[in-house]
Amino acid sequence: MPDVAHPTIGVFDSGVGGLTVARAVLEHLPQARLLYLADTAHVPYGPRPLEQVRDFAVQIIAFLFQQGADAVVMGCNMSSAAGAHTVAVARFSKPVFEVIGPGSAAAWAATRSGAIGVIATQGTVNSGAYGRALCACGASAVYEQACPAFVPLVERGLSDGPEVEAAVTEYLTPLRDAGIDTLVFGCTHYPFLRAPIARFLGADVTLIDPAEFVARQVEALFGAGPADPNPARHRFFSSGDPESLRREGARFLGFPLPRVAQVDVPVEASDY
Ligand code: DGL
Repeated sequence: MPDVAHPTIGVFDSGVGGLTVARAVLEHLPQARLLYLADTAHVPYGPRPLEQVRDFAVQIIAFLFQQGADAVVMGCNMSSAAGAHTVAVARFSKPVFEVIGPGSAAAWAATRSGAIGVIATQGTVNSGAYGRALCACGASAVYEQACPAFVPLVERGLSDGPEVEAAVTEYLTPLRDAGIDTLVFGCTHYPFLRAPIARFLGADVTLIDPAEFVARQVEALFGAGPADPNPARHRFFSSGDPESLRREGARFLGFPLPRVAQVDVPVEASDY
């Protein structure tokens, strides 16, 4: 285990979704220092080509290491579906974590019927990454559903109400009809919509948020230490409008964000 009293953990996403991962990491490692980058200049990643998302992600990971991260947690399923984790593990000497593997293992452990649903961005669904990961666990009945309206709703700060309910009904009806007993949040934005999704599917469907399971992996590496109450130890970056990050960060992490620094993605070569 690396001997770091206050590990600096880099987390990134296209926008606010990775905050669900950042929060889980801070719950498991309350002594950690967070470096969070929201690539809001390019949100949503969902409709973008996988190669482009992979390139953004690898450059962001390099930037976070250059800023002092001891490990990076990819708070974005699509970057992992695009192959950025494989590239990063080969390129960087420090640990890089991703969410699809631990999320799939947790879903397989939770299912009783074997019928597992995955909701994700169009790009993640097209990549087939969850199907492969669940299949490697032993699953054979996997139902994947793209939910393209969810990320824009969450970025606007909507987590419930008629617009959200209409989208939930549209996307989740086929999965409910397929008889799933377990649903994976295959996009880190979607746990913001947990309440309306849980209401729609009912108590018999287990909801799996991969953030919890990747955070356990990070804790297994660094260990948990005494909580550091000073939020000024965290640093936040945004490549575009920082407003959604400021608003949702304060709401979701429970403290007003210190300064959000502006950074360009792709990061200039001289920046890392
Ligand atoms: N939150 C990201 C994910 O987990 C990407 C969402 C998007 O920008 O489309 O895939």
